Amino acid sequence: MSEQTIALVTGANKGIGYEIAVGLGALGWKVGVGARDDKRREAAVERLRAAGVDAFGVPLDVTDDASVSAAAHLIEEQAGGLDVLVNNAAVTGGWPQQPTLVDPDIIRAVVETNVIGVVRVTNAMLPLLRRSASPRIVNMSSSVGSLTRQAGTGAEQTTGPVAVAYPPSKSFLNAVTLQYARELSGTNILINLGCPGYVATDLNGFRGVRTPEQGAAIAITLATLPDDGPTGQFFEDAGPVPW
Ligand SMILES: NC(=O)c1ccc[n+]([C@@H]2O[C@H](COP(=O)([O-])OP(=O)(O)OC[C@H]3O[C@@H](n4cnc5c(N)ncnc54)[C@H](OP(=O)(O)O)[C@@H]3O)[C@@H](O)[C@H]2O)c1
Repeated sequence: MSEQTIALVTGANKGIGYEIAVGLGALGWKVGVGARDDKRREAAVERLRAAGVDAFGVPLDVTDDASVSAAAHLIEEQAGGLDVLVNNAAVTGGWPQQPTLVDPDIIRAVVETNVIGVVRVTNAMLPLLRRSASPRIVNMSSSVGSLTRQAGTGAEQTTGPVAVAYPPSKSFLNAVTLQYARELSGTNILINLGCPGYVATDLNGFRGVRTPEQGAAIAITLATLPDDGPTGQFFEDAGPVPW
């Protein structure tokens, strides 16, 4: 494997994912820009390269087995391996999504991207990650997926909208990540969850109060953890997020 650290960021053509690519690129890493739309991906790679990032495009739809499998082959061919995977791509499923009124197909579609997509991409990339000296997996979650914050118990205030697809998809992702951490304990792979805070992006009609660059910071921290760093944990900038 090359000396240069190699990362893949899913959903890196815009928003927080793009800024994660900028931040990892600034470390001198080679960054795979995972994106499903050719034009949006090529435009992002061009912008990143203009900013000095060693970026390469990775056609990737996280809901599609063939696309994910082809992405793993492309990364092996073009970069020779993979050290860091940032599972950032996600959808909300649109609003409103009240539990009593929701169309079950919305829940299905959101889980397919936000949960099964992460499993699909992670498992396709694991053979490459296992060959790395310090593999890291960062799953972008949200504090709205915290059961403690959904319940508003104790010192925690209820967070996020009353919605039955997006917030529970992140609770599901949190549990899935814990199960990976359990299976991978004893290996050198560290896998953690990050919440970027409420960031102004397409995801929320740009109503968030933080910049995408600020939102990317937690992913950069978790992507660069030392070998004795945590695994199976959930962090925001201020520290651990309650489950
Ligand atoms: N923004 C916030 O306030 C906030 C808060 C908490 C957590 N988060 C989390 O942070 C992460 C990034 O969110 P964001 O705010 O940057 O959202 P965003 O601007 O909407 O970007 C989402 C990215 O995911 C991609 N994507 C969606 N479905 C995909 C698929 N099937 N295959 C490949 N890529 C796909 C999108 O690609 P297209 O351009 O092709 O649609 C886009 O690049 C998400 O995991 C989100 O849940 C965000």
